[in-house]
Parts: sequence; C-alpha cells; structure tokens
Amino acid sequence: MTTKAIVLAGGRGTRLYPVTRSVSKQLLPVYDKPMIYYPLTTLMLAGLREVLVIATPEDMPRYRDLLGDGGQWGISLAYLVQEEPRGLPDAFLVAKAFIRDDPVVLILGDNIFFGADLPGLVRRAIVDNPGATVFACQVQDPSGLGVVRYEDGRVADIVEKPANPPSNHAVTGLYVYDNGVVAVAESLEPSSRGELEITDVNRHYLRRGALDVVFLGRGMAWLDTGTHDALLEASQFVQTIEHRQGLKIACPEEVAWRMGWISDAELLRLADGTSRAYGDYLLGLLDEPGR
Ligand code: G1P
Repeated sequence: MTTKAIVLAGGRGTRLYPVTRSVSKQLLPVYDKPMIYYPLTTLMLAGLREVLVIATPEDMPRYRDLLGDGGQWGISLAYLVQEEPRGLPDAFLVAKAFIRDDPVVLILGDNIFFGADLPGLVRRAIVDNPGATVFACQVQDPSGLGVVRYEDGRVADIVEKPANPPSNHAVTGLYVYDNGVVAVAESLEPSSRGELEITDVNRHYLRRGALDVVFLGRGMAWLDTGTHDALLEASQFVQTIEHRQGLKIACPEEVAWRMGWISDAELLRLADGTSRAYGDYLLGLLDEPGR
C-alpha cells in the first residue's frame, strides 16, 4: 500500500484577474519560487513520493514543463487534466485510476504551510487515519473558508463559507483520506455554487465518527494566496524567514536531498538549471557544517 498524493492546481483564479487571465494562479511566484513548489514540498516532507498534479487543459503544458516527471527530485509525478472546475472532490473522480486501492492525501495548489511539526503530523495522520483527517488553523476571518463548529469542546460540524462563523478555526487545504473517499466523492451532489464541496466529504466522515480534526497550533503558519494582498503577504513572509535564516522554504531540490532521495552529485547537477542565486544556495548546502 502506497499513500498517493494529489496537488490540485485547477480553477480559473478569477479573484486575481487580470493577473491570472493568462497565467495559472499556482504558477505565480511566492517570493522566489512558483506557488506550487510550496504544497509540493509539503507532500515531499511528509514522505509522499507518488504525486499527481491536476490542472486545467490550458495550463497543463506549463506544469509539465516546470516539474517534469519528478525523477530529478526523487519522486514520481503524474498529470491529469480537470476539464471544468467542478469543485475539490472532483479531484478524486479525475484521479480514480491513479488512486486505485490506496489511501490518498490531497493538497490545494495555493495553500502554503510553514512549520517544522507539520510533516510529522501528516505522517501520523497517514498511519492513524480513522478514515479522514483534516487540519484546522486559527484565522482572523474564516468566513470564506470551511469552519469548524464545536459543541462541548468536540467537533460537531464543519460549515462551508458561513456568513456567521461558529469559530475562528478554518479547515486548511490539506486532507488525508482512506480509499473510501472516491466512493464518497461519487455520491455527492453539487452545492448552491454549482460545485462539489470538500466540506461535504468531511461531513460525511464526521457523521460516521471517522473524521479527525488536527489543530495546527501557534507555531505553525498557514498562508492564503487568494487575494493580491494575501499573495504579497505570503511573499513577504517567505522573504523575511529566508533573509533571516539563509534557509529556503519549499525548495524541492533541497527537500529531495535532505530526504536522501538524491545524491550530492545530483544536487550539484540541479544547481545548473537555476538562477545564479538559487544555484549558489543549492551548492552551499553541500558545505553545511556538521553534515
Ligand atoms: C476551499 C474549501 C474550504 C477550505 C479552503 C482552504 O475553499 O472549500 O473548505 O477552507 O479551500 O484553502 P475554496 O478555495 O474552494 O474557496
């Protein structure tokens, strides 16, 4: 059994028009890297190496061009198109033949996570998974997100884009499911906005007592990229950390090397195909003290 992973990079990104009129949102830069590097490395850090990228037919060639077959990073990348943005659970219908009989982790191509605890939490969710595991995070304004409703300190419901949020705990775009998620997705009806809703999938598991909601504490950052301000703030966050530490966030070459999936020589070769600054960073990793 190999847990499969999906990065969903579909959608039209209309909230960022005209920027995303001819460029896919998840290819836009977040500081010094394409946005999709962030969710992709979140999966890699959790040890997931069989990854499917789902994108629109128009954007697909750009993703293939950027990411290749994944071999350069010690992972395997597959690609499937989503013809229409039919909602997040549609990813499981598109990916049915890729998922086969395995569990699956879904991450949204525009979700950025930062925090050393996350890979362990995802790995634990994969091992302990009662059916479905979602990760919740406190946000100032959860009204445009899936929001957790508590009763007596227990998760009672998840509400999608509530006008009056029942808590400040939003459900992030990172989901761990057993293989039953495909059948659940097949049973869904579109919501009033005409899409299949991931919140309906999660409520399905919740009703069966098979949903784990893992809260991401204060030491963890979950950043949004849905508006111009949020996108800029995400870039500034990454810039701040990278300048201070001299360590890159979401560098797939580095992650592959630290995971032991590529050798020093392969890392050296990858430095060639990047900018001077990015390449120098990769080369510098080989001189780290204490390695
Ligand atoms: C989707 C989900 C929502 C979740 C969010 C995380 O929202 O429907 O429950 O909180 O992703 O990014 P959407 O991006 O479709 O508005």
